[in-house]
Amino acid sequence: MATIVGNWSWVVNPRSRLINPYTAIRKRPLFLNTAPLTSPSASVSVSASTSTVFVETNSSDPVDVEKEVSNSADKKKKNILACPICYDPVAWTGEPGLSVESVSGSSLQCSTCRKTYFGNETHFELTAASGAKNYGEFMPIATELFRTPLVSFLYERGWRQSFSAWGGFPGKEKEFELTKKFLEPVFGGNIVDASCASGLFSRLFAKSGLFSLVVALDYSENMLRQCYEFIKQEENFPKENIILVRADIARLPFVSSSIDAVHAGAALHCWPSPSAAVAEISRVLRPGGVFVATTYILDGPFTFVPFLRDLRQYTRQISGSYVFLSERELEDLCKACGLVGFTSVRNGAFVMISATKPT
Ligand SMILES: C[S@@+](CC[C@H](N)C(=O)[O-])C[C@H]1O[C@@H](n2cnc3c(N)ncnc32)[C@H](O)[C@@H]1O
Repeated sequence: MATIVGNWSWVVNPRSRLINPYTAIRKRPLFLNTAPLTSPSASVSVSASTSTVFVETNSSDPVDVEKEVSNSADKKKKNILACPICYDPVAWTGEPGLSVESVSGSSLQCSTCRKTYFGNETHFELTAASGAKNYGEFMPIATELFRTPLVSFLYERGWRQSFSAWGGFPGKEKEFELTKKFLEPVFGGNIVDASCASGLFSRLFAKSGLFSLVVALDYSENMLRQCYEFIKQEENFPKENIILVRADIARLPFVSSSIDAVHAGAALHCWPSPSAAVAEISRVLRPGGVFVATTYILDGPFTFVPFLRDLRQYTRQISGSYVFLSERELEDLCKACGLVGFTSVRNGAFVMISATKPT
């Protein structure tokens, strides 16, 4: 089912095989809705029937949900952090209460291997190699690029905004509204903003009051430092609701089945192995937990252009980037990693996908 929202033409599709967006827009009647997603009182409602999903705007009052979240927040801050080597829970030594402000100077110890992980001024170091003195590891370019101080500084100062100009990304606010609709079933739970960069969405999740804890996770220490700076600069930021963690997406430092939601904006194409990453996401999600991600896709008639197929292959070999998977490949990836109920929303090369851990 396609819908036009403002200037955007969307194809929303719970079963990617059923609808090819390039033909669907022409063949099927359009569901028109011109209310902009950025309207402060507007939210996108995604409701699924057997074969279609409708995206429409309505006004919803988040107050009740927020109240409920703050009442149960302490109860829900369960022990989710785990050793990235053993996957067993880590014991926290530091000030009581897990928050961005209590990370500095505290440490986490694995109950099994006894390895200790330390918090620095901005984040917890929870990579498997953390603490190694002589061993250093380099990831593919698509990961290393974001570790540089320059890219970390520029990311929210023009870099991210450029995705809208050439990639069809709707922009931070609209993406956030859409994401929230997919996350509705897990409001009140915890959320991992995986590959958060400088935390543009992590900060929105924390400020929304819709989650008991937000974990802003990235491999780039400079991105996490930038995220911390943004948090510090913002008046009345709810610091008690967020922690920053450095970790590899393919080795997540969380207890199995402990996470209610994982969000990964514009990141899947940067991961060295999307299958290792999605398998990890599936491991940490609790039954009924939700995965939402955005990325670039290339399919439809473009799939048959041989030159583009080759280009995609070279890009992967040189940069390690899985940019331009097809929607069918994304659905297959989720399914292969044990996630069900694949749904997508697309606009040109932009796609937002969602899938759930079976209950
Ligand atoms: C294009 S940015 C996306 C940031 C943000 N989520 C957004 O929506 O704009 C991709 C991010 O993926 C992170 N990343 C790349 N490889 C990673 C890995 N192996 N583990 C965790 N994060 C990784 C990068 O550091 C970078 O911050």
